[in-house]
Amino acid sequence: MNEYQTITGDDSVARDGTIKLHDAAGFEGMRKAGRLAAEVLDALVPHVVPGVTTQEIDDIVFAAMRAGGGIPATMNYRGYTKSCCTSINHVVCHGIPGDKALKEGDIVNIDVTPIVDGWHGDTSRMFTVGKVPIKAQRLIDVTHECLMRGIEQVKPGNRLGDVSHAIQSHAEANRYSVVRDFCGHGLGRLFHDAPEVIHAGEPGTGPEFRPGMFFTIEPMINLGRPGVKVLDDGWTAVTRDRKLSAQFEHSVGVTEDGVEIFTASPKGLDRPPF
Ligand code: MF3
Ligand code: CO
Ligand code: CO
Repeated sequence: MNEYQTITGDDSVARDGTIKLHDAAGFEGMRKAGRLAAEVLDALVPHVVPGVTTQEIDDIVFAAMRAGGGIPATMNYRGYTKSCCTSINHVVCHGIPGDKALKEGDIVNIDVTPIVDGWHGDTSRMFTVGKVPIKAQRLIDVTHECLMRGIEQVKPGNRLGDVSHAIQSHAEANRYSVVRDFCGHGLGRLFHDAPEVIHAGEPGTGPEFRPGMFFTIEPMINLGRPGVKVLDDGWTAVTRDRKLSAQFEHSVGVTEDGVEIFTASPKGLDRPPF
């Protein structure tokens, strides 16, 4: 079981398995980082069109982060060299930007994590490229709803398993499956910290939410089977059955009586169609 550790202001922290409980200064730091993360995704909307390469998207992400006073947490993270992840169609997560051009009908997750004043804002959304098939749009809608139902469960006294269960039940009620190989995570001064936020599980289980906890919820939902494999590049995770996968991610903080979403879109561009 994870223990809890109280953090004051922008104290530096260790990846020691404890769940950090932050104060008002932490909330201020996360609001700034989360807002920039959301603004970067908002700025991408007009650029995600047929013919654009994922490297061009990465360049825009880098410039927008720098202009907003941030730096990409992913750059030089465990050997990763890009400013975002671009995961197209059957890519579940961690797609690496490159020469590949988006084409009409693709769906793509773009995941960004700026660091602002040492705080991490981590968020991703699905984007649709031109007109997409109805089954792809429906997967996107259900995945976004899974994230929001998960977030609704976040309040002091509830447990992580309540979030997992809300996500899993909505996905499975729609005959989709929940990816088990990747999780959400605590974050703040660190990019990936305790606790692990699993997206399928039993209500009333797992660590209890306490005010000041910061973490991501980032369900990956598959049209087919939940199995994934990582390609030889060491990053790109794809569905084993090559069917579509979708994901949305928010960074949130537990308040005295509920939850604050740090990465909500200032322009209301939380999900497509935009
Ligand atoms: N942003 C991803 C997450 O949601 C992590 C990407 S790590 C990378 O946790 F190295 F693949 F970029
Ligand atoms: Co994350
Ligand atoms: Co992310």
